[in-house]
Amino acid sequence: MPIANSFTKLFGIRHPIALAAMDLVADARLTLAVSEAGGFGFLGAGYGDAEWLDRELAILAGSRGAGSTPFGIGFITWSLAKHPELLDSALAAKPKAIWLSFGDPEPFVQPIKDAGALVVCQVQSVEMAVDAVSRGADVVIAQGGEAGGHGISCGSLALLPAVVDAVGNKVPVLLAGGVADGRGLSAAIMLGAQGVVMGTRFYASQEAAGSILAKQRIVRASGADTLRSIVFDVSRRNIWPIPYTGRCLVNDHTDRWYGRELELMRRGDALEAFARARQAGDYDTAPVIAGEAAALIHDIPSAADIIHRMAAEAESLLLAAPQLARQPEPAAKAAAS
Ligand SMILES: Cc1cc2nc3c(=O)[nH]c(=O)nc-3n(C[C@H](O)[C@H](O)[C@H](O)COP(=O)(O)O)c2cc1C
Repeated sequence: MPIANSFTKLFGIRHPIALAAMDLVADARLTLAVSEAGGFGFLGAGYGDAEWLDRELAILAGSRGAGSTPFGIGFITWSLAKHPELLDSALAAKPKAIWLSFGDPEPFVQPIKDAGALVVCQVQSVEMAVDAVSRGADVVIAQGGEAGGHGISCGSLALLPAVVDAVGNKVPVLLAGGVADGRGLSAAIMLGAQGVVMGTRFYASQEAAGSILAKQRIVRASGADTLRSIVFDVSRRNIWPIPYTGRCLVNDHTDRWYGRELELMRRGDALEAFARARQAGDYDTAPVIAGEAAALIHDIPSAADIIHRMAAEAESLLLAAPQLARQPEPAAKAAAS
């Protein structure tokens, strides 16, 4: 029996599982694969590359003929503020929802609502959640520090219920960060979430944009093989506002430069080598953006396989949950029987 709740109802989806709006990795192909499998896909418009966005939106628009697959589009809010016209292109594609993360959503909320789309805000603290809802967020994603990519440091286990306590009576709350299977989904539901958002798990899928070598590194990595730092941002000369840092897999480059970021900023040769490595897909130097959920990822299946096996696992765990709370039989009686 599928898990049905306020999130699945609001979005008209079968499973409470969403694809994170991963910059470039969550392209139209992956977005559609997730939505067609009964989850909800967010296109990763990230920093906002107009040419890429137009191309991917055209693919999403083309899918409409097959029967109106719902999808969302996600932006990095502080970057969207520099190119606000991109929101018009996104809204013209008639998304079900717009995802805003990392920055002030206020300027974008009304245009999104006017276009009939839902406002989904990813936050990293209770204060941010309360603020997002006061500005009109229809859904809040609590992003724990385990997450791949940019974020802050509060772990999912404490952050999620605290966000649910603060805003869960007003809007559906989803969990992002550290979820890769049905155990994570069922645990999130027990903690008060209405669903989960996954990045790293869907990165290691057949449909995700990105190199097979990067996906294989995620499969090989343990959770301890990731690092939240500013090395990646410094290396690509893309400095983020405080307090955000980025989680990636560790590699030779982070081993060399973590803790020496000021020196790295001045090392033109190292920055050029980093740019070349990104072009060449040399992941000993270039980053693979991924979170601690890498510890739970052992294969590169289709997005549909990920969703179906995860939903089945979570459903059976939730159905079995009452057994976990049953009183144990008294020892003497148990021994006699
Ligand atoms: C490769 C990658 C790229 C990401 N890019 C973005 C992004 O452009 N915008 C954003 O809001 N979050 C981005 N994130 C973070 C996700 O939104 C999400 O919070 C995270 O993936 C959840 O944790 P998980 O990786 O453990 O599933 C990215 C994550 C990954 C792994």
